[in-house]
Amino acid sequence: MEEAITIGQATLYLGDAYAIRPTLGRMDVDVMDPPYRFNAVGAGKFRAARQATHMLIAEGMDKGFDHSIINPLLCGSCIVFFHPDQLLDLGDHLRGNFRRMVLCQWIKENPAPHRNKNYIFDSEPYFHAWNEGLHPVGAHEDMHRYVFAPVAPSKIYDHPTVKPDRVMAKIMANVNGQTICDPFMGTGSTGVAAIRAGKRFYGIEKNPKHFETACNRISAAVAEMEARAA
Ligand SMILES: C[S@@+](CC[C@H](N)C(=O)[O-])C[C@H]1O[C@@H](n2cnc3c(N)ncnc32)[C@H](O)[C@@H]1O
Repeated sequence: MEEAITIGQATLYLGDAYAIRPTLGRMDVDVMDPPYRFNAVGAGKFRAARQATHMLIAEGMDKGFDHSIINPLLCGSCIVFFHPDQLLDLGDHLRGNFRRMVLCQWIKENPAPHRNKNYIFDSEPYFHAWNEGLHPVGAHEDMHRYVFAPVAPSKIYDHPTVKPDRVMAKIMANVNGQTICDPFMGTGSTGVAAIRAGKRFYGIEKNPKHFETACNRISAAVAEMEARAA
């Protein structure tokens, strides 16, 4: 069942992104961290000691997503986080729908070690793609330091893939436009950054537990901005 809550400059929807996103109309930027697609087999004891991967699999976040949700008729530009296994397919979709695209990354200050015949990635990529008029913006003098941020332990918000405030702040400074939509909102990291940047935010999340976390985090960000303005 769908539920919508407005908190300051944010409207948050509890429900399915594929059903709700088209009803919200055109946004300047879709910022998303959609379900990853990766080979989740193996890694034994090493993985058992790190609950994030188990949480990802338990919540179906290893099965990928339908690229058609990134629709140039609905957004003038987009930011999309992804697992490196998704690089080529996702890159093809964006190249076919946007005029320019750049590969960016968050460099993890506390990466997990290399184990079990595979890489445990010490950085996480995202694409920034845009059409006419919505090219990247922002002051870059000290932006390099925003690329580096630690991984948040999954227990903080009981979610395995929370994006760091610092990285999301950089993204908000780089995107062009005032209306931001995150169709796979999770705990609301995009929303917190959008509110702090003074932008209008729309978020969608299907899991009630994560939706509630997002409502709480975004309420706190709205209160923080109101206190600053008072
Ligand atoms: C990779 S996580 C995003 C985490 C987010 N960046 C954060 O910092 O908290 C993807 C989220 O999308 C949600 N999700 C997956 N499929 C969805 C769907 N069809 N509609 C809405 N939300 C969905 C999952 O429940 C999960 O919380």
